[in-house]
Amino acid sequence: MVPVSKDFVNNMFSIEGKVALVTGATGALGCVLAKAYGYAGCKVFMTARNAKKLQALEDEFKAEGIDCAYFAADPAQEEDVKALIKAAVEKYGEINILAIAHGYNKPANVLEQSVADWQYIMDADCKSVYIVAKFVAEQMVAQGKGGKMVITTSQRSKRGMAGYTGYCTSKGGADLMVNCLACDLTAQYGINVNSICPTVFRSDLTEWMFDPESAVYKNFLNREPIGRLGEPADFVGYALFLSSAASDFITGANCDCSGGYLVV
Ligand SMILES: NC(=O)c1ccc[n+]([C@@H]2O[C@H](COP(=O)([O-])OP(=O)(O)OC[C@H]3O[C@@H](n4cnc5c(N)ncnc54)[C@H](OP(=O)(O)O)[C@@H]3O)[C@@H](O)[C@H]2O)c1
Repeated sequence: MVPVSKDFVNNMFSIEGKVALVTGATGALGCVLAKAYGYAGCKVFMTARNAKKLQALEDEFKAEGIDCAYFAADPAQEEDVKALIKAAVEKYGEINILAIAHGYNKPANVLEQSVADWQYIMDADCKSVYIVAKFVAEQMVAQGKGGKMVITTSQRSKRGMAGYTGYCTSKGGADLMVNCLACDLTAQYGINVNSICPTVFRSDLTEWMFDPESAVYKNFLNREPIGRLGEPADFVGYALFLSSAASDFITGANCDCSGGYLVV
């Protein structure tokens, strides 16, 4: 008998009923991922630092019948993250999926950048990933049912760029951290940890790059076999896949979702 079951194939993408914790939920990607988890039948616990924006998202999602809640926290602050996880568990009893979608950049030439500015980027994009992943992992281990972590990094984790000593270093660190977290957490505890590595997609900060007349846009298109720049919804499929049983054999992967940026 061919060793694959119909039941597995028909249900492997389902994440219905799971509890998804989404960081950076007020951002361009985070709000799309949070809503997508909701549409997929998850209970969605959202976080970011801006409570007002989180409240607006909760109102919007609840109006669509999505079961969701939020807790405002800074992901780089240990006590904030502990309180966040406590609030999520008090609300929904457990955490099954962690989607990290927060992030920050303030490009500057190394000669002009202060050490404090560099450290702030490192804390926002690297230390915060460690703190959130560590304490969610502790919660998942205590639950004893495994889990899924999907961590947004960047294609900038693999290559340098002028003015990006903070961002590239922090994203590179986060991608290596994903490799290490998989070694610590998957075999023993059934927690899969993967990252998705985008190139430019539309957000408040990148909107200017989408001007078809700009040199930046034209330059990017030359590097994008897919023929366009990204939209936040482009990453939903990967995130849901990496949150589902369909990706049970994938861990520690830094997943390219760049429209082919790497092949040119
Ligand atoms: N947009 C792109 O072209 C692009 C490309 C590659 C990778 N990425 C990565 O994809 C992820 C999502 O990007 P995005 O474009 O959706 O970002 P975004 O729209 O700028 O949103 C950023 C999110 O992170 C939070 N945030 C901002 N500064 C922070 C800080 N210092 N510490 C902790 N949280 C902070 C924001 O919420 P609060 O301010 O309320 O906390 C917000 O929820 C990030 O990790 C980013 O680096 C983006």
